Amino acid sequence: MSKDTVFSGVQPTGDIHLGNYLGAIKQFLNFQDDADSIFCIVDQHAITVFQDPEELKQNVYSVLSIFLACGLDPKKCILFNQSAVREHSVLSWYLSCTARVGWLNRMTQFKDKAGKNRDNASLGLYAYPVLMAADILLYHADKVPVGDDQKQHLELTRDIAHKFNTDYKKTFFKLPEPIINKAAPRIMSLRDANNKMSKSDISKYSRILLTDSNDEISAKINKAKSDSLAMPTSSDQLANRPEINNLITIYSSISNVEKDKIITLFANKEISSFKNELKEVVINLIEPISKEIKKIMNDKKYLQETLKHGSLKARERANKTILELNSAMGFNFD
Ligand code: AMP
Ligand code: TRP
Repeated sequence: MSKDTVFSGVQPTGDIHLGNYLGAIKQFLNFQDDADSIFCIVDQHAITVFQDPEELKQNVYSVLSIFLACGLDPKKCILFNQSAVREHSVLSWYLSCTARVGWLNRMTQFKDKAGKNRDNASLGLYAYPVLMAADILLYHADKVPVGDDQKQHLELTRDIAHKFNTDYKKTFFKLPEPIINKAAPRIMSLRDANNKMSKSDISKYSRILLTDSNDEISAKINKAKSDSLAMPTSSDQLANRPEINNLITIYSSISNVEKDKIITLFANKEISSFKNELKEVVINLIEPISKEIKKIMNDKKYLQETLKHGSLKARERANKTILELNSAMGFNFD
C-alpha cells in the first residue's frame, strides 16, 4: 500500500506556543516517520494582515528553527515556505472560481478576525480559506493534522474538492481528512478558558511559548487563572471548572497520562501543589526545545539551505499538479 500524504501549515506570525505544539507540531512528529509528510510555513497566509517585511522574514526563520528544534527532520519530511512555491497562488485562483461566496460567508475565523469593521478587512483575509484549500489539494494530501479551530476550513476544502471534481467530471482531488489530537484538540488561554490560546492575545500570560525560560514558564503557570476549590475528585466536576480542565488537559497531553488518572492522583489536593507538578512537566518539555531553538536560530546558512532544499522538492510536486489541471481546464495550447 502506498503511504498517506500528510500536509499542514503554520503561520509565521507571533510566537509559537504550547497550543501550536500540542495541537499541531506534536502530531507532525508522529507522521514524519511513516507518512509522506509536507510541512509548510505559510508566509502568504500571514500577509492577509499587514506584515513588516523584515519581521516576516525573521518569523519564517523562527518557525523553521522551532520545527527543527522540536524534532522535524528535513531528511524525513519536506519543510518549506509557501511563497517559494508560486503554484499555491495559482491553484488558489482556480479554486476561487469553484468556491461559493455563500460557503466563505460561513467561515467563523473570518468573522472573528475581521471583527466589527468587516468592510475594512483585506480581501485576502476573506479568501484565506481558499488559499488553505489550495495548499492541501496541491499535494493531494490524505491527512491534515491541525487544531480543532481549523476543522471548518477542512470541511470547506472538502466541499471545494468535491465541486471541482464534479464540475470537471474527473476525480482530480482526494477529500482530505482533518487529524485532530484527541488529547489536546484546543488548548485554552491561561487567562480566560473561554478563549483559545492564541498568538494574538494581548496578554503574554495567556500563552506559554516554546522559547520561554523556566522562570517565565513558572510565572505563567503561577498566574494561570484557577478557582479557590481543591482539585477535583472526578471528571464530572471539570465541566464547571474550565480553567482547571485546561490545566489538566495540558498536563495530560504532555505526559501522555490519562486525565482520569491525573484526577485520581491529585484529588482534593491544593491547586498550588498541582501547579508545581505541572510546571515541572512543561519545563521538561520546553527547556531542551528552547535551548535548541537558540542554537539553530544562529545558523542562518543551515536555515536557508533547508528552505531551499524543501522548496525545490515541493515545487516539483506542485508543478505536476498544475500542469495536469491546466490541461483539464483548457489552459494548455501545445
Ligand atoms: P496558527 O498559529 O494559526 O498558524 O496555527 C498553527 C496550528 O496550530 C494549526 O493547526 C492550529 O489549529 C493549531 N493551534 C493553534 N492554536 C491552538 C490551540 N490553542 N490549541 C490547539 N491547536 C492550536
Ligand atoms: N489556516 C491555518 C491556521 O491558521 C494555517 C494553514 C494554512 C494550514 N494552510 C494550511 C493548516 C494547510 C493546514 C493545512 O492555523
